Amino acid sequence: MTDQQSLIARAVKVLPGGVLGSHRAAPGLEFVVKDARGPYLWDVDGRRYIDCLLGSGPMLLGHAHPAVVDAVQRQLSHGTTFMLLNEPIIELAEEIVRAVPGAEQVRFMSSGSEATFFALRVARAFRQRDKIMKFEGGFHGTHDYALMSVGPRSPKAFPAAMADSGGIPHAIGEEVLIAPYNDLATTEALIATHHNELAAVIVEPYQRVIVPQPGFLTGLRTVTRRYGVPLVFDEIVTGFRLAYGGAQEYYGVVPDVAAFGKVLAGGFPLAAVAGRADIMHHFDAALEGSPDYVWQAGTLNGNPVAAVAGLATLGELRKPGAYAKLFATGRRLKDGLAAAAARHGMPAQVSGEPPVFDIIFTDRPVVDYRATLTADRRRIALFNEECLRRGVVKAVNKIYVSLVHSDADVDELLGVFDAALAAVAARTA
Ligand SMILES: Cc1ncc(COP(=O)(O)O)c(C=O)c1O
Repeated sequence: MTDQQSLIARAVKVLPGGVLGSHRAAPGLEFVVKDARGPYLWDVDGRRYIDCLLGSGPMLLGHAHPAVVDAVQRQLSHGTTFMLLNEPIIELAEEIVRAVPGAEQVRFMSSGSEATFFALRVARAFRQRDKIMKFEGGFHGTHDYALMSVGPRSPKAFPAAMADSGGIPHAIGEEVLIAPYNDLATTEALIATHHNELAAVIVEPYQRVIVPQPGFLTGLRTVTRRYGVPLVFDEIVTGFRLAYGGAQEYYGVVPDVAAFGKVLAGGFPLAAVAGRADIMHHFDAALEGSPDYVWQAGTLNGNPVAAVAGLATLGELRKPGAYAKLFATGRRLKDGLAAAAARHGMPAQVSGEPPVFDIIFTDRPVVDYRATLTADRRRIALFNEECLRRGVVKAVNKIYVSLVHSDADVDELLGVFDAALAAVAARTA
C-alpha cells in the first residue's frame, strides 16, 4: 500500500463515503492533496495534476499566490479572529461597495450557503412576506430553501417545488416556488400570480454553465421591480469572476441584493451579502427586539485573515489585463474542447462563459435545466474520470479557468480533453 492508499483507507473509516462533500473521484482514482501551487496540485504519492476545480472556484489566482500568502502571513501575527471591527474587513466592505454596482452595504458570514440563506432572510424581513421563488436547476448552497428542485430527475409542473435530497422539512416545499430559467414569459406569469406572497426571487444570473438568453435578466429585473419583489443575485460563482463587478456588471442588470463568496475570500472561509441600504438596514442591531430585526451573527464573521486574503486577491484582479487574460485562456479551452468533441463525432455542447464552462453531452442547445436532462450522464461521468486518469482535475459539472493557466497548460489540457473524449467514445460505442 502506498502512503496515499493508506490515507484513503483511513479517510473511509472516519469520513462518510471517504469524502468531504459531494465531490468524489471514480473508484481507483481517489487521491489526497499534499501540495498546491499555481494551476497544479500534487498528491501524497507525488503525482502532479492540472487543477480546473480551483477549490470549487475560489482560487482564481491559482494556489499559494505570493500576494495572498504574504498578506495572510503578515496578518497572522496580529491576531486571527476577533468578532470585532478590524481594518481589513472594513476595507474589504469598502472594496465590494466600490466594485459591485448594486452594493451599498455589506454583511459578512463564512460560507456561500450562509450568504444566500441570509440574503433571503433579509428580503423576507424587508418585504414582510415568506415565499421565495427560485429557478429549477439553480444551486444556492445547501440550506433547506436552496436545496429545492436543484436536480430533479422527474421535474414537477411549475411552480411546484421538490426537495431532491433528504432531511429537508416538507413544509419548506410550500415556501418555495420554482420557475424555469431563461423562460421569461412563464416566469413573468408566475410572478404576476404570486407576487403578493413573494419575499424575493433568487437567481444565479449565469445558472451553473447556462448563459442567460438576451433579455431574460432585464425582463426579470423589470417584472420584480414592477411588483416590488426584491431580486437576489447569487454571485457566489460569478462575483469577481465574470467581471470585477460580477454578473451585474457583466450582464448589465443590477439586483437589489447579491450573495458573494469563493473568489471574494481568496481561498478562506468568508462570504458576503451586499445590496440596497434600505434592505441591508434590517441587519442593524439597533433594531434588536423589533420584528424588523434580522439576527445574523457568526463567530468568524469579519475574520481578518480571510479579509486580507480577499483584499490581496482583489488587488491582483484590478491589475490591467487580468480579465482579458482570463477570458482569452477560457476561450481557447472552450473552442479546443468543442473542436475535439466534433472530431470524435460526439453530440455535445460546450456551454458557458469562458471563465467557467463545461461540456454537456446533448445535441440540444442548453438553455435551461430540462435541456440538461437530455444529456448523456454516463458520458459526463466517464469524461470526468478519463480526465482525472490523465492528471486533470475538474468539477463534476464545471471547468474552472484561472489566471495562472499558461498557454502550455492549455495545450496540455486540450491534449487531455482530446484523449479523454476518444476514451469516452470508445467506452460508449
Ligand atoms: C451558485 C452557488 N451558490 C452558493 C454556493 C454555496 O457556497 P458554499 O459552498 O461556500 O456554501 C455555491 C457553491 O458552489 C454556488 O455554486
